Parts: sequence; structure tokens; C-alpha cells
Amino acid sequence: RTCALIGAPVQAGASQPGCLMGPASLRTAGLAAALTGLGWTVTDLGDLSIGDPQPKDHSNGAIKRLAETSAWIETVEKAAFDAAERFNFPIFLGGDHSMSAGSVAGLARHAAQGDRPLFVLWLDAHPDLHTLQSTESGHLHGTSVAYFTGRPDCEAYPPLAVPVPPEQVCFMGLRSVDDAERRRITSDGFEAYDMRAIDEMGVLTPLRAFLDRVVAANGVLHVSLDVDFLDPAIAPAVGTTVPGGATFREAHLIMETLHDSGLVRSLDLVELNPFLDERGRTAELMTDLAASLFGRHIFDRPTRSMR
Ligand code: ARG
Ligand code: MN
Ligand code: MN
Ligand code: MN
Repeated sequence: RTCALIGAPVQAGASQPGCLMGPASLRTAGLAAALTGLGWTVTDLGDLSIGDPQPKDHSNGAIKRLAETSAWIETVEKAAFDAAERFNFPIFLGGDHSMSAGSVAGLARHAAQGDRPLFVLWLDAHPDLHTLQSTESGHLHGTSVAYFTGRPDCEAYPPLAVPVPPEQVCFMGLRSVDDAERRRITSDGFEAYDMRAIDEMGVLTPLRAFLDRVVAANGVLHVSLDVDFLDPAIAPAVGTTVPGGATFREAHLIMETLHDSGLVRSLDLVELNPFLDERGRTAELMTDLAASLFGRHIFDRPTRSMR
């Protein structure tokens, strides 16, 4: 079982600088060693980079750093396709969440080539479902899901080869949703669980319902983990903290259940801003959550090998 680490130090899409240091912080927290210890062969491909793109204008004047974000999407898309071709399990180290516009687009292109639908579990306080027209903050990390699901008004981004249908995307942990995003979630068929749903049902009922759909469709699963999915009390190193996030136990249970499902083929660890961390605790938590997804456990449980 082979795993690749791919750093994407993009911060052009975030509200404040610092995500640039995300990949270095995850490496410092010992991500590669943790996965090696679980029996995986880990190849660190280092960090991607972009050139110096020409500035791009847009009719939505709020948009910030469009050219740079577009260049990152294009670069990460290609790297994701290649890594999925060469390794069993690529891990993308962000960088802000605009990175996932590229990683998911590249992974969807790869999955389509193998005739399997790509499903996406989006663990985040936010749905990141703004189009380039509807974003008011202009922070492009809020637009990734609109892009890779082929919503309109994302034409200024690189052309999208294989859109992921909204029915194949599941949001968990939502607690900061803008009006335009809320309308899109209800009208376009996304599966969405807000924090109230988790309070009422716990994490397992909704997660299992989604995993059942992935199995029924013979799909493969990508997990995109935004630091702000977690409660700020345990994960302070993010520029967009929202109170009332997932607990340590909920987050690990999700990762352990995902491991046992055998469905997950790729992972984004995004929005880690080490400038805001406390003695590396958020980087360590993200690393430990990845380890749970890769099979770290206390007692043995029945586990399906990758299907
Ligand atoms: N919806 C807000 C915006 O568009 C917040 C987006 C936060 N996204 C993130 N990836 N942290 O500005
Ligand atoms: Mn292949
Ligand atoms: Mn996000
Ligand atoms: Mn978020």
C-alpha cells in the first residue's frame, strides 16, 4: 500500500496569510512517520509551486487574487491526477481550501477514467459553495465546491474535465453558511449535515447513510478535512474559526469509521495556519486524525480492505 504526500502551499484563497506554512507544519508533526508506522509505504513528493501569473480581472470586484488561485487549481489538478495514477492513496497538504478545487477536479478525472464515480466527504464549518459571482468576501477558498461540481459562474477558473455531481458530495459539520450557499444546497441536491444534525444523531448515522450510497454506486471516496470542522478549542490554527465544531472524539470516530469502510482513496488536510497554532497542537491533531483514517486503532475491528 503506497501513499504520496503532496504539499500545496497556497494561501491566495484565504482571508489571512499563514497557510503557506501548512505543509511544513504537518511534516514537522510527523505525518510520514505515523503512516509508515501503520504499514504504508510513504513517498513525500515535496511542495508544488506556480509561476508568476498575469493578473486577471473579474466583473465581481470583491474577488481577491484570482490569477494566483487559478494557477494553483490548474497545478494541483494535474498533480492529483498523476498521483492517483501512481499511488494507492495521495494526501494533499494545504494550503487553504482553494487547493481542493484542484485536488478534487484531478481525482474526479482519474476516477472517471477507471469508470468509478468519485464521492466527496467535505468536513468543514463552511460549504465553500460560492460561485465567482456570489462570493461577497472575495476569498476564493469559499468557492471550491462550486467549481468542482460544475456550478455556473466559475468560468474564470481552468476548464473542468469531469464535474462531480452534487448528489455525490456530503457536507458534515456546517455552521457558517451564506444565503447563496444555502439556496444551492437545497436546490441542487447536495447531502448536508449541519452541527444540529450531529447534535441530534451523532456522527455515525449520517456518515453510514452516505457510505451506503458510495457502496451502492461502486464509488471511490475522497475526504476533504478543513481544520475549522473541528472545534476551535481543540484546533485553534485556522483563520476562520467558528464556535461549536466537532469534538476530538467525533472527529476520530469519523476517521476510524472511514478507515473501516475501505472506501477512501485520497485526503486533503487544509486550512492549517501554523502562525495561529499553539505549540503545534493543531498540526498534531490533524496528523493523528490522518493516522486514524489510515488504520491506527486501539482494539481490532472488522475492516474492509480497499474496495
Ligand atoms: N463563506 C465565507 C466566505 O465566502 C467563508 C468561507 C470560508 N472558507 C474556508 N475554506 N475556510 O468568505
Ligand atoms: Mn489509474
Ligand atoms: Mn473550507
Ligand atoms: Mn471552513
